[in-house]
Amino acid sequence: MRFEKKVWLASPTMHGDELKYMQEAYSTNWMSTVGKNIDEVERQIAEKVGVKYAVGLATGTSALHLATRLAGITLYGMPLAGHGVLEGKKVFCSDMTFAATLNSVAYENGEAVFIDSERDTWNMDPVALERAFEKFPEVRLVVLVHLYGTPAKIDEIRAVCTKHNALIVEDAAESFGASYKGKQTGGFGDFNAISFNGNKIITGSSGGMFLTDNKEHADRVRKWSTQSREPAPWYEHAEIGYNYRMSNVIAGVVRGQIPYLEEHIAQKKAIYERYKAGFAGLPVQMNPYDAVNSVPNYWLSCMLIDESAVKHVSPEKILAALTEMNAEGRPIWKPMHMQPMYRNHAFVTAAETDVGADIFARGLCLPSDNKMTPEQQDAIIAAIRDCFA
Ligand SMILES: Cc1ncc(COP(=O)(O)O)c(C=O)c1O
Repeated sequence: MRFEKKVWLASPTMHGDELKYMQEAYSTNWMSTVGKNIDEVERQIAEKVGVKYAVGLATGTSALHLATRLAGITLYGMPLAGHGVLEGKKVFCSDMTFAATLNSVAYENGEAVFIDSERDTWNMDPVALERAFEKFPEVRLVVLVHLYGTPAKIDEIRAVCTKHNALIVEDAAESFGASYKGKQTGGFGDFNAISFNGNKIITGSSGGMFLTDNKEHADRVRKWSTQSREPAPWYEHAEIGYNYRMSNVIAGVVRGQIPYLEEHIAQKKAIYERYKAGFAGLPVQMNPYDAVNSVPNYWLSCMLIDESAVKHVSPEKILAALTEMNAEGRPIWKPMHMQPMYRNHAFVTAAETDVGADIFARGLCLPSDNKMTPEQQDAIIAAIRDCFA
């Protein structure tokens, strides 16, 4: 069978209020990077995550850049003009993730060192992280992602960082709404970022946020994001600035989406559970999470094909079957240590085989759109089962 209308991996789901708040920005002429939508969204997101301050930014990538820049200045001080804040410094980074998690390290002339994933949550392995500190004891910064909406082993990673006197940049771009030991992701790092990209659990079509409990940090990021103007009657600049502020129109979309966060998570969870039940008896597993300590937001459902079966049924075969039926799947994020751009960077694993490369070779992301009907999902499950027949 072939769907007439494509079933997406994860597409925006609008509810109506988004238009009302965008319209409000228009009719009050706050078509700018200031306005009520931004103020409201910053207040509501800070409250939801349980942090004191949220700064609305253009993208998750800009939030990560300013978070990483602030981390560098906090650790190493202000660089000379023309130098990055991480000049010549190594930074430990999640390996299996989207490149935006850690490209900021390169923006600031630092050198990412990639830490392998563990198999329980597919996130940074705390044992590999400890090993990395043994190898590079001078490192003071860790960039940690929660992949596909699944919280990492946060306590273990924090303990390793505390032992080695290192700070954390937390990339919660994919995990907004997910929690660990009752606390929301996006508030665990020393510097935190989320994303409202079009494919995320809630969206502004684009957008991101820097989250913190530290007022000075929030003020600094807000200032940097608006070209670092000093409080003077003329344009006075004491440091480099960026045009990274969130638009009040985009903030209107996010504002309209916030009340639907829990509904989206419930839909994504139902999709995950339906796949899990539907694949019973097949030599596959769903993307795992720590059911004792964490509640994922189930942003993307993924599957891992057992070693015994992958020679006969590859991720490519399943992705081709999905394409054939007009549904969108995707390979797992290709680990950063396998990327041409980062080929010369160090990679630290605690496993006998490279875990990230293994998950990449045997895994795939399934159509996880929350507008997919149960009937459509059943057809997708049936097509995947056929691949194993
Ligand atoms: C893990 C991760 N980090 C960072 C980003 C960057 O966010 P944005 O697209 O809002 O710049 C994304 C998604 O796009 C992501 O999935």
